[in-house]
Amino acid sequence: MNIYGRYDHSLYQIQQQLTEQLKQLNAQAIDEGQPKLYEHLNSRIKDNQSMIEKCQRKGYPVNTESALRRCHDAIGFRIVCNFIDDIYRNLKALRQADWCNIVEEKDYVTHAKPNGYRSYHVIIDLVTGERDIDNQLPGHYYVEIQLRTIAMDSWASLEHELKYKHNISDTQRIGKELKKCANQLASCDIQMQTIRQLIHENDEEDPQ
Ligand code: GTP
Ligand code: MG
Repeated sequence: MNIYGRYDHSLYQIQQQLTEQLKQLNAQAIDEGQPKLYEHLNSRIKDNQSMIEKCQRKGYPVNTESALRRCHDAIGFRIVCNFIDDIYRNLKALRQADWCNIVEEKDYVTHAKPNGYRSYHVIIDLVTGERDIDNQLPGHYYVEIQLRTIAMDSWASLEHELKYKHNISDTQRIGKELKKCANQLASCDIQMQTIRQLIHENDEEDPQ
């Protein structure tokens, strides 16, 4: 059974569409003489089995409606940025885009999770060229977008990997060390932001 039913193909089409739209926003920023909006993009369609498990975990009926409407992360994007400021530049661009609406925000940048996880999560309602489950065209699909710096991303991928190594002993100690690491990376992100600002001010005072 495929939980996405006849919408399975549409999800991949929409992944393509949004990739192009985000690249376009980036190209536009560069055209306007601004720094690039992000370092790189990642995206995925949540696989069938993981989506079935998620619906079960949440107590939703295992069907297409749950996968596309109750769950909001069938389509997931990560926008990985060089600097913290870039996260907010991307958010601004998304807020201004007429092809999506932000319907939910979680700011784990200002309010890190207790384990040290940092990222800015938004759920967007994306207008697409694909018919949706309510038979509308243009169709509306949810997409989860995680915005983070390279430092936040490297921490999250290391932590994710360790979470699934169930044979590790001293988990408390490891958790504590991981959190320290997250805090150090966060302070590096702030320092890097300061350096960028200094370079920028220098450029303005002393144009070539
Ligand atoms: P769902 O109901 O599963 O969507 O969870 P939620 O909405 O409570 O989760 P949230 O929006 O906080 O996070 C969803 C996604 O963020 C996860 O699938 C991960 O990709 C990422 N994430 C959240 N917390 C952590 C964390 O502590 N470590 C790592 N590595 N990733 C995290
Ligand atoms: Mg979520």
